[in-house]
Amino acid sequence: MRSYNLSGRNRRPIVPENTDGLATRLSDLLVGQSEAIETIVPYLQMHQAGLSPEGRPIGVVLLLGPTGTGKTRTVEALAEVLHGSSKNLLKVDCGEFQMEHEVAKLIGAPPGYLGHRETQPMLTQAKVNSVASEASDISLILFDEIEKAAPSMARMLLGILDKATLRLGDNSTVNFEKCMIFLTSNLGAKAIQRANKPDFGYEAMLPVQPLEDTAKLQSIGMTAVRHKFSPEFVNRIDSVITYKVLDRAACEIILDQILAGFARLVQNRLGLRAFRLQCTSGGRNLLLESGTSVEFGARELKRTVQRNFIQPVAALVAQGQIPPASTVILDAKGGEFSILLRQ
Ligand SMILES: Nc1ncnc2c1ncn2[C@@H]1O[C@H](COP(=O)(O)OP(=O)(O)OP(=O)(O)O)[C@@H](O)[C@H]1O
Ligand SMILES: [Mg+2]
Repeated sequence: MRSYNLSGRNRRPIVPENTDGLATRLSDLLVGQSEAIETIVPYLQMHQAGLSPEGRPIGVVLLLGPTGTGKTRTVEALAEVLHGSSKNLLKVDCGEFQMEHEVAKLIGAPPGYLGHRETQPMLTQAKVNSVASEASDISLILFDEIEKAAPSMARMLLGILDKATLRLGDNSTVNFEKCMIFLTSNLGAKAIQRANKPDFGYEAMLPVQPLEDTAKLQSIGMTAVRHKFSPEFVNRIDSVITYKVLDRAACEIILDQILAGFARLVQNRLGLRAFRLQCTSGGRNLLLESGTSVEFGARELKRTVQRNFIQPVAALVAQGQIPPASTVILDAKGGEFSILLRQ
């Protein structure tokens, strides 16, 4: 049985200027994807040392791999570590820009054109600057699921990735030199998944792949990317990271993070009415079995905890059935969750 409280991994101070601390803190938040951390941190170090090339973004990194393995989480974790909040990032959901005219919304209509006054460009200098913070001047920009955008998005990105500038509809320019740019894509994900683990089923998950396979997975992903995007576009990407299917150990750590987050919420929101949380090994196993899979990674884990632990506990709180300072325990037997109370 494990208890979840405010001590431990989630309470380390943020040390943005100390890049060793940065890697450690990142690996606390992003589980089982050490290659991502090893690839990203050197770009931040280059910037902090003042040695990033001029006239280019700090780094342009493409994150590839199966769904629910931590691609978007990587950028959120970086925002948390650099700026103290996972919301300090500018995210462009490329799925919202599937039509050519929608891409124009990013830069705004030129003066005199219909809609000039109404369309606020999404990528203004003010918006780019607003996601930096006093702790770090790095703006994190995320173009999520780039394969879903209309082709003109890739053309627009060419200038940003190469020269760190974007010309807006009103002819002003946006500078991206202090930006770390992330592109995520599911291209090649199915093939990567098959190469990771041919058999379906959670219990059949293999431990992390041997190192030599990383190159193979990367080549599978890159073949799909080259197929979709022009060579000019691909050439402007500094690094490609291929995310691995999460193994059981990684999913367990992610579950711990989610439960620790719940415990923090109880402490912060309920004040004097707060209580302790525990989870039996039966409860943990059923959460893991219901919330993780080779197909969807850890994507369902948060929702599984919400449905089977947070919501029933919330109902007990609402009915005033949890005496202060008691312990609320999640247990499971015969495939069913149950909530126990201990005074
Ligand atoms: N490696 C990981 N470390 C920590 N949490 C993770 C990791 N992978 C997934 N998660 C959990 O699962 C959720 C979904 O992960 P995320 O959004 O990063 O998936 P993704 O790889 O971007 O998938 P998609 O391709 O569908 O966008 C996260 O919010 C987080 O709770
Ligand atoms: Mg994502």
